[in-house]
Amino acid sequence: MIQEIKINKTQTPKSKGDLKDLGFGKIFTDHMFLMDYDKDKGWHDARIVSFAPLEISPASVVLHYAPEIFEGMKAYRTPKGKIQLFRPMENIKRMNNSAERMCLPKIDEDMFMDALKKLVELEKDWVPSEPFTSLYIRPFMFANDAHLGVHTPEKVVFVIILSPVGSYFKEGINPVRMLIEKDDVRAVKGGTGFAKCGGNYAGSLRAAEIALQKGYAQVLWLDAVEKKYIEEGGGMNVMFKIGGKIITPMLTGSILPGITRKSILELAKSEGIPCEERLISVQEIEEAVRKGTLEECWCCGTAAVIGPIGELAFGDEKFTINDFKTGPMARRLYDELTDIQWGKSEDKFGWTVPVC
Ligand code: PLP
Ligand code: COI
Repeated sequence: MIQEIKINKTQTPKSKGDLKDLGFGKIFTDHMFLMDYDKDKGWHDARIVSFAPLEISPASVVLHYAPEIFEGMKAYRTPKGKIQLFRPMENIKRMNNSAERMCLPKIDEDMFMDALKKLVELEKDWVPSEPFTSLYIRPFMFANDAHLGVHTPEKVVFVIILSPVGSYFKEGINPVRMLIEKDDVRAVKGGTGFAKCGGNYAGSLRAAEIALQKGYAQVLWLDAVEKKYIEEGGGMNVMFKIGGKIITPMLTGSILPGITRKSILELAKSEGIPCEERLISVQEIEEAVRKGTLEECWCCGTAAVIGPIGELAFGDEKFTINDFKTGPMARRLYDELTDIQWGKSEDKFGWTVPVC
């Protein structure tokens, strides 16, 4: 059921500057969406208010046991100055799947969509228009009971904040180096890997920091049981082009089902490019490098879009891919996908949703 959203506009709007050199997730717009849940009343008090700190008790359960989930999506400015979302219903459904896994309450899909559209419309002047920029949308939900017993949450807060962004990696669409992580693991089947919950990321920070210090942009996680199969990056999925085929790790339950991943597969298949979703081992990558059949590799996600991987390291071994250059398939998919997102080409798939 859609509730009425009360809008309380800020009296002190921030200066937007020129919305250039944005980086990722450092600047926030003037308003945020908030909604509260409690066990007896359900979701209530949907409102858009000034972007401001939230008040939570030191005993709030999220600070202790981390019941928190989030999403990441973007609004794009088209050449005609219109604003559109990319596959928002996919994010809404994934957030509800994450909620189910984490014992958090689901949100009515139409209510969620209405909140997204109203907030983005109110903040439309914050959607940047420079090449490669967009308005990143971060919906998140956390349990907020002030009660230290480990329990199913009874009070929950749902928030949507917005951030004008540029490239996620400082390299932009240029290749990055990635380290295949041998020691720490991210997620295991039956765990929370398929859910977008904060805890998955907290546990990945140590390996990511070590990789960063060694000059790698991110880690590539292996499956947690055999430590043999590639799973995904810290904040993105991964794809390989081997012998003319696009191969990406199958969704085993420990990997996030990325919307960019899904869109690339649908796009590539519609063009007759062979795609496989299956287990892919480090050994297979090593063999493909030896035989010269590993043509390209890239990571993909909302924040990163498509980021070519120019080098993969595994212990002392280093595999250089496509001479550390952006490959033609990554470039082509990047152009085709972003042309749809930025409204520069016809959206044959019906993926975009107009806001205003
Ligand atoms: N895998 C992880 C761990 C992520 O954090 C993300 C980013 O959301 C992705 C994959 C890619 O998902 P999507 O394409 O839906 O952004
Ligand atoms: C995204 O791509 O939206 C993500 O959530 C990745 C990262 C910033 C955690």
